[in-house]
Amino acid sequence: MHAIGVDIGGTKIAVGVVDEAGRILAQVRRETEADDVASIDRAIADACTELTKEYQVGAIGVAAAGFVSPDRTSVLFAPNIAWRDYPLSRRLGELLDLDVPVVVENDANAAGWAEFRFGAARDASDMLMLTIGTGLGGAIVVDRELVRGKWGVAAEVGHMRVVPGGHYCGCGHEGCWEQYASGSALVRDARAAVVALPHRAGRLLELAGGDGQQLRGPQITQAAQEGDELAIDLVGNLGRWIGEGAASVAALLDPELIVVGGGVAEAGDLLLTPIRKGFEAQLSALGHRPVAQIELAEHGNEAGIIGAADLARR
Ligand code: BGC
Ligand code: NA
Ligand code: ZN
Repeated sequence: MHAIGVDIGGTKIAVGVVDEAGRILAQVRRETEADDVASIDRAIADACTELTKEYQVGAIGVAAAGFVSPDRTSVLFAPNIAWRDYPLSRRLGELLDLDVPVVVENDANAAGWAEFRFGAARDASDMLMLTIGTGLGGAIVVDRELVRGKWGVAAEVGHMRVVPGGHYCGCGHEGCWEQYASGSALVRDARAAVVALPHRAGRLLELAGGDGQQLRGPQITQAAQEGDELAIDLVGNLGRWIGEGAASVAALLDPELIVVGGGVAEAGDLLLTPIRKGFEAQLSALGHRPVAQIELAEHGNEAGIIGAADLARR
């Protein structure tokens, strides 16, 4: 049976038809506004309507960047999108002229599930996925099962406090890991660096069209890949935060594999090497225990679509 997978991020939606082997057969993407949740619903409904003209689907899975209810129908809360106790599944059902179930999943859980079933973690039994985007998302697979917790909101690793009194977070607290280990953190630090270190920021400023405050994540990654030293340092610093925090998560879970995905993972080894370094620097009992592998996601920013579709079929 084919299913539709929808991935709702902080700034865009992606909707695809996915077959049982996890392949995307067709895909539609749209920009959205994080503070206008009704417009997100309409964009998703339009995309689904378009795709179902050509494909027959048996379920729709929606990966949402927030805390999802245990019955997989609603978003209880989202730090970076304006959902509060939002009945997403019902709203989409009302807009869609289709008789199929609409199942909501946490976006990182969906991405992690895709990597576990069809990607970097296909041979693992115990894995942690970290998705580095607007926020920092987590998915935990223990003994080949997705861990949801009692109320559906396990693996919200981005909101572990790593810096007492640190940066404010969209969740209402301070010092959350996501404020240091996300694409948003990278952009914040890069914009600050353009002001503080103008002698090193020439290329970043140029890519931002002359206004450092307009700098975006993909431009930082591009500069780093071109060899720009400031951009490499910024991506490396992000990697260190990811790796060091992941060591704390490993203290809790002891995963065999940590998969890193999300937009920033496009930076490849420039990100992965400092992640591994930070991880080993903070892992307890190093030298006396196996060290989890840390790898990039295989499905890039399509993992959410694939995982949401697959989870909706189950
Ligand atoms: C949210 C998570 C989400 C993650 C990645 C976090 O801010 O709390 O639910 O999975 O961002 O989008
Ligand atoms: Na999650
Ligand atoms: Zn938080």
